[in-house]
Amino acid sequence: MRLQRTLEKFVDPLPLLRTLKPKRKSKRKTFYEVAMKEFREKLHRDLPPTRLWGYEGMFPGPVIETHKDELVEVLWKNELPSRHFLPIDQTLHSVAGNPEVRTVVHLHGGATPPDSDGYPDAWFTNGFKQTGPDFRRKVYEYPNEQRASTLWYHDHAVGITRLNVYAGLIGMYIIRDNEEESLNLPKADYEIPLIISDRSFNEDGSLFYPSQPDPPLEDGPNPSVVPFFCGDTILVNGKVWPYLEVEPRKYRFRFLNASNTRNFELSLDSGQSFYQIGSDGGLLEKPVKMKTINMHPAERVDVIIDFSRYEGGEIILTNDTGCGGPFDPEKDAKVMQFRVNQTLREKDSSVIPNRLSKLPLPPKQNIQTIRHLKLVGSQDEFGRPLLLLTNRMWDDPVTEKPQLGDTEIWMFMNTTAFPHPMHVHLVQFQVLEHQAFDLERYNETGELVFTGPIVAPSKSERGLKDTITVPPGTVTRILAKFAPYAGRYVWHCHILEHEDYDMMRPFDVQ
Ligand code: C2O
Ligand code: CU
Ligand code: CU
Repeated sequence: MRLQRTLEKFVDPLPLLRTLKPKRKSKRKTFYEVAMKEFREKLHRDLPPTRLWGYEGMFPGPVIETHKDELVEVLWKNELPSRHFLPIDQTLHSVAGNPEVRTVVHLHGGATPPDSDGYPDAWFTNGFKQTGPDFRRKVYEYPNEQRASTLWYHDHAVGITRLNVYAGLIGMYIIRDNEEESLNLPKADYEIPLIISDRSFNEDGSLFYPSQPDPPLEDGPNPSVVPFFCGDTILVNGKVWPYLEVEPRKYRFRFLNASNTRNFELSLDSGQSFYQIGSDGGLLEKPVKMKTINMHPAERVDVIIDFSRYEGGEIILTNDTGCGGPFDPEKDAKVMQFRVNQTLREKDSSVIPNRLSKLPLPPKQNIQTIRHLKLVGSQDEFGRPLLLLTNRMWDDPVTEKPQLGDTEIWMFMNTTAFPHPMHVHLVQFQVLEHQAFDLERYNETGELVFTGPIVAPSKSERGLKDTITVPPGTVTRILAKFAPYAGRYVWHCHILEHEDYDMMRPFDVQ
């Protein structure tokens, strides 16, 4: 039975995420073990405990914190039951005939060697009893040879990523470096990860995830993949609409949108601005004052919020956009609450620096290849939407093969009616520009006619990105240097219902 009432807002405190302790640490490397486990947890005061799957039995999982150039090794262990508790569509790629519960972990935003990147077919089951065709190693290696940034880890198993992530398999991964540490940003108790996601519930507290599109298929697979998923409840750090008690001072918040489909347009109802200092690939050049922050799935936004003039105030983090239908104020409008009711423990000496960093952008001089990559809508034999990249299915032969060290322009051309947050593994790229084209004309005649000027990336898109939203009827160009590893990676839409069917493709760095 679907939960009918809306849960009361701001009755539970925001959970602060625990940092994972290493098993062993030597000069050369730091070794962790992380077990994926089933567990039950109360996600709201008025909900019975919810069955979840989480790294170390937590949702979200523990934060892994590291420093640039520290070699981190993780033994990711699957200790999950053998049956899934969410509806699996047997018609998707590599699902039928394979074990129901398969997992593989990807470090999103990391420059990771290919055999540790969590290739979707490198899955493994409980105790590594069965492994997928591309499974290579049990212990994953993360060299962390990249600048300070907010990354995250999540499940990436082929055909069921949307379900494994929805069940709770997500966590944050923070890389620090000397440059960032020299900036005197708010830190320790004043630096807080905020992982936002949406879920729906049944009366008994269990997660609701549809087994059929709406309206249901007349004649098709049951359960079936759905074209998108929008939860009716918003969670931060695994609690429904929580509150956080803060001091009247500056805080640094690392936002991550870990939802399957939902995007957010975040503002503060006090009317104050965020100071954005970083995005997917680390610090921006300088802080950007923003009234509204847009976040599509998988994007990270690093901000400073200054509560110093709001002593005694209650500030709501609001959201201005609906999901999959009209905006519903009850379900969509609020994310969490800040209560500025704590006494200032000591003078706030942190700063919002004028300059943050010099961006290590990919070199523009030697562009070896320009790829035209179409995002295409199609239909399958059951009349379900099937989304494709370059009109190919996931398991068609590899067509994108950059040379190691090459710089390329990838042009994502969105011929569908929806925005898609496009993600490329291995690299942090530069967004060059967006340009709108006549979508109707293109879909009728195949002619590409631009209807607007070349638009520069927005201020917050000017940092390094690993995920960029391509609006409908738009060409978005990105510049990426394919290094430092050769091997097989993937690029895909990060709406997980799209990624699973079938908006994901391999690429080879060779
Ligand atoms: Cu966050 Cu390939 O994924
Ligand atoms: Cu990724
Ligand atoms: Cu998509």
